Amino acid sequence: MPSGQYFEAEPGIASRPGRVTLALADLTAELAVDRGVFSSARIDPGTLVLLRALPPLADGTVLDLGCGYGPIACTLAHRSPGSTVWAVDVNQRAVALTVANAASMGLPNVHAAGPDGLPDDIRFDAIVSNPPIRVGKDALHGVLERWLPRLAPGGEAWLVVHRHLGADSLAAWLAAGGRGVERRASKQGYRLLRVTGGEKKP
Ligand SMILES: C[S@@+](CC[C@H](N)C(=O)[O-])C[C@H]1O[C@@H](n2cnc3c(N)ncnc32)[C@H](O)[C@@H]1O
Repeated sequence: MPSGQYFEAEPGIASRPGRVTLALADLTAELAVDRGVFSSARIDPGTLVLLRALPPLADGTVLDLGCGYGPIACTLAHRSPGSTVWAVDVNQRAVALTVANAASMGLPNVHAAGPDGLPDDIRFDAIVSNPPIRVGKDALHGVLERWLPRLAPGGEAWLVVHRHLGADSLAAWLAAGGRGVERRASKQGYRLLRVTGGEKKP
C-alpha cells in the first residue's frame, strides 16, 4: 500500500504538476516537478550546496544516484556535454520528470532509469548524489553498497548530507568500510563528502 513517501516506486499521492527554478551561476532552468517527488516546492537547499560547491568533473560516465526530478543530472549534463549522465531513482514519477527535464533542456546525454534499468557492466567515473537519507540508515547503507562498488578505478563519489541527518556518522561508516572520505565543503549545515576507494575489481 503506497503511503505517499517520495521514495516509493509509484507515489500514492495524486499528480499535481508544477515548475521550480534552478538558479546557479552557470545555469538557470525551469524544471518540471510533481507531488510525490522529493522537494517539489523548490530546489532542495542541500542540492544547491552540492551543485555550487562541486568542482568541475572530467568528461566520463557519471551517476546521479536518487535523481528525483533531475536537478543534479541535468546540471552535470549541461556542464559536461561530453559526459554520459545516468540518472537513477526508484520513484517512477521522478524518472519520468528527469526524462522530461533533460529533453526540455536539450540534454541528450542524460539517461534516466529505475535502479534495475542500467546495463550491469557500466562503471562510473563519478557518482554525485543527494542520497535518500529518509529511507533509514540500513536502507541507505544498502543503496550505497549497491552503487559505490561500481565506481571505476580512480573514481569518486560526491555526497551531500545535512549534519542533523547523520552526515558525520555516514562519513564514519564509509571510512570504516575502507573508503577515503574527505569533507570538501560545509554550508548551512550541509556537508559535501568526497568518497574514494572501495571499488570492486572488474
Ligand atoms: C534526497 S532525494 C534527492 C533527489 C534529487 N537528486 C534532488 O537533488 O532533488 C533522494 C532520492 O533518492 C531516491 N531513492 C530512494 N531510494 C532509492 C534507491 N534504492 N535507489 C535509487 N534511488 C532511491 C528517492 O526517491 C529520492 O528521489
